[in-house]
Amino acid sequence: MKTFYSITTTIVSIQCFLAATNLFCIAWLPPEIFLSTRSHRSRLDLGSVSTDESYAIAPLVGDEPSIRKASDFFAKSYWLGTPHVQVASGPVSDAVHKELLYRQFVDFSTKYGERMGNRLLDAGLVAAIDIVTNEIVGLAGIEVCLLDAERRDILTPELSEETMKAALGNLGPKERRQYKNASPFQIADELLQPNLQVVCVLCNLVVSPTARGKGIAMKLCNYVKESARDAGFDGLLLKVEKNNAAACKLYLEKLNYQELFVCGDSSAVRFNLKDGTFERAEAETLILVKSVV
Ligand SMILES: CC(C)(COP(=O)(O)OP(=O)(O)OC[C@H]1O[C@@H](n2cnc3c(N)ncnc32)[C@H](O)[C@@H]1OP(=O)(O)O)[C@@H](O)C(=O)NCCC(=O)NCCS
Repeated sequence: MKTFYSITTTIVSIQCFLAATNLFCIAWLPPEIFLSTRSHRSRLDLGSVSTDESYAIAPLVGDEPSIRKASDFFAKSYWLGTPHVQVASGPVSDAVHKELLYRQFVDFSTKYGERMGNRLLDAGLVAAIDIVTNEIVGLAGIEVCLLDAERRDILTPELSEETMKAALGNLGPKERRQYKNASPFQIADELLQPNLQVVCVLCNLVVSPTARGKGIAMKLCNYVKESARDAGFDGLLLKVEKNNAAACKLYLEKLNYQELFVCGDSSAVRFNLKDGTFERAEAETLILVKSVV
């Protein structure tokens, strides 16, 4: 622990020097510095709605019809509408389509559905909705997860939640009571390994193939950024495949995200259009970060 802090202090001193000499590079910062939080809130308040002339950006509630609408949209626009995430080609059979919709619904219900029990780590969905047809034309998720700086990866929401709950479960009843109203930040700081930090993540960003190129992704990303800031985070993270040119341009050039590191897991999920299975393929993935303050 002592060594960890002394290394951190040394790195900070080097960075101050580099900043002073205009050689400052955010990727050199140890994550805990710019992912630190200003408040200990961490609850996402996806409350407000912003409108454009053709669509509105609005949070989705976690009830069954909303989750179904969002998961159907995601299945259609991401797995079926984005060639680089597909394996095989040709028409998708009814059985494969039905299975895809079901699996996507289960995934979104687990992550964003109405709470079964009390979750420590919050998550929500934001949609761009066509104001004429009332259909979703773009979607983004925002999740509070754990970043594992040692493995250079963001833990899934399920694993993040399990890790937090396991840490609490290891305590005796008296000690556990002390954490009854504790924030995830306090739990992580006091009970988890120092390589694990609570972070806010932009995920599941997708725009309908017929609505791309109109600035919808930019609007969704900005909305998520503001939500992260309002929840007390200083930074927002995301994962992107290095060969996803459109997304990399959006994040790195338009939205000024910076590379935190190359993800320790060099694989990404692909959907097999023929048999409806999900598989992992080799894919260099970057973890990017942006200050939201
Ligand atoms: C990436 C994606 C979300 C962009 O959505 P979009 O609404 O079309 O993006 P915007 O119109 O807001 O574009 C904003 C900027 O992104 C970049 N961009 C978007 N599409 C691009 C493309 N096809 N090629 C290159 N750059 C692109 C551009 O810099 C653009 O700004 P500009 O038009 O002023 O040059 C969309 O292409 C998509 O849904 N892709 C499939 C899913 C995906 O890859 N999601 C990201 C996972 S990390």
